[in-house]
Amino acid sequence: MKEPPKKALVCINRRLKADEASCAVRGSLEIAEAMERGIKERSIDIVFERFVCFGHCTKGPNVKLVPGAFVHGVTPDMVDGILDQLQDACGTRDDEEPDPPLHLLGS
Ligand code: FES
Repeated sequence: MKEPPKKALVCINRRLKADEASCAVRGSLEIAEAMERGIKERSIDIVFERFVCFGHCTKGPNVKLVPGAFVHGVTPDMVDGILDQLQDACGTRDDEEPDPPLHLLGS
């Protein structure tokens, strides 16, 4: 990955007609939950969003990195590898507030 992605999007679109392809019918909700949980647990510095249809419905479940590439045909066993790549490319957030300087604490 050249420029680190700022967003990871997972399509969660579900079509109600059985003969029309959609990512949710192929398990994208489970993938979205695993990615969201993994990004949070690892504090990966990226925004995660669920998305409704990229227009690549027959190739799903689909993940899109912004900026970056599509990952088509994502399966649950691919999620850890995707998270590893995102962590390498984006780094982690320092979510913890630093302790205030001691001279600002009351006595
Ligand atoms: S339903 Fe996922 S890309 Fe269209």
